[in-house]
Amino acid sequence: MIAKPATKYHPMAAVALPDRQWPSRTITRAPRWLSTDLRDGNQALFEPMNGERKMKLFMELVRIGFKEIEVGFPAASQTDFDFVRRLIDENLIPDDVTIMVMTQSREDLIARTVEAVQGAPRAIVHLYNATAPAWRRIVFGMNVSQILQFISHHVGYLKQLTDQQPQTQWTLQYSPETFSATELHVSLKACQTAIAAWGAGTGRPIIINLPTTVENATPNVFADQIEWMDRNLSPREHIVLSVHTHNDRGTGVAAAELAVMAGAQRVEGCLFGNGERCGNMDIVTMALNMYTQGVHPQLDFSDITAVARVAEECTGIPLHPRHPYAGDLVFTAFSGSHQDAIKKGFAAQSADAAWEVPYLPIDPADLGRTYDSVIRVNSQSGKGGIAFLLEREHGVVMPRRMQVEFSAVVQRHTDASESEVDGGALWALFQQTYLPAHPSATGTPAPLVVCHGHRLDEDGQGIELDVTMGGTRQTLRGQGNGPIAAAVDALGLPLRVDHYEERATGTGAHAQALAIVEAAMEGASGATFGAGMSHNIVTASVQAIVSVANRLAQRAGLAGQGVDTHRAETGAATDAARVASNA
Ligand code: KIV
Ligand code: ZN
Repeated sequence: MIAKPATKYHPMAAVALPDRQWPSRTITRAPRWLSTDLRDGNQALFEPMNGERKMKLFMELVRIGFKEIEVGFPAASQTDFDFVRRLIDENLIPDDVTIMVMTQSREDLIARTVEAVQGAPRAIVHLYNATAPAWRRIVFGMNVSQILQFISHHVGYLKQLTDQQPQTQWTLQYSPETFSATELHVSLKACQTAIAAWGAGTGRPIIINLPTTVENATPNVFADQIEWMDRNLSPREHIVLSVHTHNDRGTGVAAAELAVMAGAQRVEGCLFGNGERCGNMDIVTMALNMYTQGVHPQLDFSDITAVARVAEECTGIPLHPRHPYAGDLVFTAFSGSHQDAIKKGFAAQSADAAWEVPYLPIDPADLGRTYDSVIRVNSQSGKGGIAFLLEREHGVVMPRRMQVEFSAVVQRHTDASESEVDGGALWALFQQTYLPAHPSATGTPAPLVVCHGHRLDEDGQGIELDVTMGGTRQTLRGQGNGPIAAAVDALGLPLRVDHYEERATGTGAHAQALAIVEAAMEGASGATFGAGMSHNIVTASVQAIVSVANRLAQRAGLAGQGVDTHRAETGAATDAARVASNA
């Protein structure tokens, strides 16, 4: 720290609100959520999402249960414009979902935005302009009355255009950007100007969205600002009060939570806190914080790993392993005393009692996570040592989630054998756990699938598997955009492949390929890994799929000869249904 902070920075002034009510309130129901993943989140990526990724994330947001989704900035990007048109023209917006589009306050951009949503049954147009002193002075060179005139003009222009399209149910969202750094009386005037220009009232809905564009104070200051606005905005009954917090001080979630206590009815944010700089408010964290207080957030995070994988794939941003609720390590205890307390907590926890396991603020099972990795080797060097030995002695490089999973296997082994594991023992354990997918596989219980051979079509899109499945030798055919997808299709099991990687385990002509697959299966809790090793990469891939299928089938109680499958070339759906009915 070299600067003298007292002279260099301006601390935020406290709000004069001696009778503030929010500190004694609690959150008792879910706010209206708006996901801005496809707008604010997307604007903050090295490589903004293309239409295909946007569509994948949109569908996931709908599946999670978002009823309001900001789908883009169509006047600023042709990709966004085309995406919005596709949603509308192909009728992809569910009846209970409303899309929002953002525009700057400029006539040509407003017109283009209205054009983008033409024909939508419902649309929220999000208009914003910055109001804080530094922006007024440095960026726009406008005084307060010029800013108010600017708002009135552009909201009026939007009203004029939208009035010409009565077939759409229009809502205005007005955001005084930089609200948290703006004098409250100026923010109020800006919002009242927008409210008046829109003619807000019955049948003319308006959302007033108050952002911490750049987080600049402790969350209690923001809560005071929101409570002050809540008391002064009018006509209050016709206004939905929304907040949009960022995370520059690491308190984006806290600010939104306190804002809800202070009167905010709606909260904007992104999955896992993606967004400009340090991100937007993390909706997953806020929603699950509510969940652990007994309030249902009305969003479905019961398979948090699947949501994380979609978010990572669409944004290209990996999740931190210690990210609240979703990181790879958040249900893992390294310290011996924590492990001991957790073990005792699990033993004492009965299914119908309130959750009370020490060190675990949430039941991992509620998020689709397993307990597997909760108790494991009791020091960082344990896990690091396993990974190091396997890599050094066998060229096996495991993805981090697999290291976590495998270290639990090693720990079970060391607990039972009370012996130390060396490189050879680790390799034997690795083979037993992940590589038994070959014709001579034995063990208890017997695997669901044993693969005797395969034949890949010349175009690489179709595969024939010679397998014993459920005790019957048969030939299965599958199609897909590569050997992995084709093999999954051939097996006909409800498998979802989340991750695949393949690398050589040595150098030179004799090096073998090690394929690793992470997958989940309907009826089996959580995701797990499978591996295959061969000189032939397709063989390694097929073995990895068979391995993960067997491991998941075992979790689902499907392994062994009990599955009545006698399919040969009859189509995947039949087997999937048969397996599911055995679950
Ligand atoms: O952070 C912000 O202020 C915004 C607004 C446009 C709402 O994203
Ligand atoms: Zn923002």
